[in-house]
Amino acid sequence: MAKYKPWLLCCFILIGLICAVALISLCIVSLEDRRCPSGSFKHAAVSADSRRCSEIGRNMLQQGGSAVDGAIAALLCTSVVNPQSMGIGGGSILTVRNKTGHVKVYNFRETVPQSFKTDLLKDCPTTFALSTGSKWIGVPGELRGYEAVHKQYGKLPWAKLFEPTIRLAKEGIPMPQFLGNLLSISIVKDHVKSSPLCDFQVFCNKNGTILKEGDILKFPKLGETMEIIAKQGADAFYSGKIGQDLIEDIKTAGGTMKLEDLKSFQVRVEDAWTVPLGNTKMHIPPPPAGGALMAFILGVMKGFHLTPNSLDGDQKIQMYHRYIETVKFANGQKRSICDPVFNNKQSADHLIDPSFINRIRNMIFSNRTHDNSYYYNVKPSADHFGTTHVSALDEDGMAVSATSTINQLFGGTVYSPRTGIILNNELSDFCGRANTMRAGEHPPSSMTPAILESKSGGLLVIGGSGGSMITSAVALSIINRLWLGMTLKDAIAAPTVFVDSMNNVNFESGFDKSVMNGLKALGHKVGDWRYFFNVVNAVEKENGCIVAVSDSRKKGMPAGY
Ligand SMILES: *[C@@H]1O[C@H](CO)[C@@H](O)[C@H](O)[C@H]1NC(C)=O
Ligand SMILES: *[C@@H]1O[C@H](CO)[C@@H](O)[C@H](O)[C@H]1NC(C)=O
Ligand SMILES: *[C@@H]1O[C@H](CO)[C@@H](O)[C@H](O)[C@H]1NC(C)=O
Repeated sequence: MAKYKPWLLCCFILIGLICAVALISLCIVSLEDRRCPSGSFKHAAVSADSRRCSEIGRNMLQQGGSAVDGAIAALLCTSVVNPQSMGIGGGSILTVRNKTGHVKVYNFRETVPQSFKTDLLKDCPTTFALSTGSKWIGVPGELRGYEAVHKQYGKLPWAKLFEPTIRLAKEGIPMPQFLGNLLSISIVKDHVKSSPLCDFQVFCNKNGTILKEGDILKFPKLGETMEIIAKQGADAFYSGKIGQDLIEDIKTAGGTMKLEDLKSFQVRVEDAWTVPLGNTKMHIPPPPAGGALMAFILGVMKGFHLTPNSLDGDQKIQMYHRYIETVKFANGQKRSICDPVFNNKQSADHLIDPSFINRIRNMIFSNRTHDNSYYYNVKPSADHFGTTHVSALDEDGMAVSATSTINQLFGGTVYSPRTGIILNNELSDFCGRANTMRAGEHPPSSMTPAILESKSGGLLVIGGSGGSMITSAVALSIINRLWLGMTLKDAIAAPTVFVDSMNNVNFESGFDKSVMNGLKALGHKVGDWRYFFNVVNAVEKENGCIVAVSDSRKKGMPAGY
């Protein structure tokens, strides 16, 4: 038998090595190439309130835009598709994670103008009511905010982000189903009918009838305004002709805001607060955003060690009981949320402090609730709803969670005919939550645009709208997803329970009847809240696949690729 020559042996070894390397590479490639489950995406996604706006955001990403570009374009679009929720006459809180994992919060919510009605808080409603009129208008921060985040994180030209929305505003869109439904609710109908939004034919026909599904919704003046801002930048609004026109119109409506207020508006850029949730880190906006309240709810609930079994039989009653008790305590903490620049800087710190969280958890009894609001520190106030949220994640791993608002439905229904802008009524956010307000101050907010990061590298970009319901609705979606084993879609769709500001418990239709009865037996008082406009939009990346969900409560659809 001929012995192999050493050089031949070398050859064999070499060939073997090459084969091994090839095999390993093949494995890696096929792992990378692994198909994501149907309905999920491989690269990027945007979840806005409507399919149209999610798609506009997605298109920006596909054209090389960053998550910030996608979010801005989706928000601009939302100002036309859900004009009752947000617009360039409002403000936002935007949480952004850059691709190396640093998280910043851009707060460009409205501020109190230099001159305001000093006894405004005496006009606060004590029960559910929409606050109308120019006295509630805060200085709009929306465009200054877009400008600041775009400068830092944008990849596409500023004007490009406006293009699709300018087209929609000028050409018009069929009345979106959600808005059509909203305008057919009698209190909303009356609200709009008796307002400038009808007089100036924004949501009414020439003969004064409210537009309905099937009608065309057009914003020609707003389209022109956006064209100018697209060309000239945010300065056109904050110090140029548009600002002057806006101030003129506000004056005509009896308001006191000055061009000086617009000129001096500043975006607040801060580090996010980061709180641990077991194997997950949660980044939230600091006060005056509602992030700390949501972190408090999740902090208390984490200590109950929930698992998917917590939804079995009577355990489900106990799970919701504990959640409701926790939210009652969170309601009692609402006044801890205020603008740290004008108030005690530490006023909300205890909400993320484990010793406070443990103390509250120990005050929760498994067999009863408490009647007295004193137990929970709750002071009566009025609830409201409104707002929008966009979550976006791009190919580079940049994530944006942005909640935007003009506060209540159609803001305070003040309309600027020269610019086509609907003004916010943000100053009513001080109602029930503060005793004073000062020029330049941000009102306290429930908005909580969050970004969660798991140890294994997963990302969850999540936030919501719905006024008073925001913090608890987003918290419950996170509980459902993180601890109760639901898919993201189910976590958001699960019928919810809203603990109102009187600590009454309100069940969304479809809520488990036997659990409802169990909760009543524990002593919970049931309220009659009818507006479950809590809307959570989220994008999640896990094991290389992206799942995006837009809440079906607002008829939304996400978009990705
Ligand atoms: C992310 O942000 C941090 C802190 O602001 C910065 O140091 C880092 O360079 C940023 N990364 C990228 C890729 O921009
Ligand atoms: C108002 O105008 C719309 C179309 O412009 C029409 O369909 C409707 O019948 C009119 N209503 C009244 C009361 O005239
Ligand atoms: C509830 O449980 C506590 C102990 O945790 C007990 O002292 C109390 O009597 C119970 N109350 C009712 C109404 O069962």
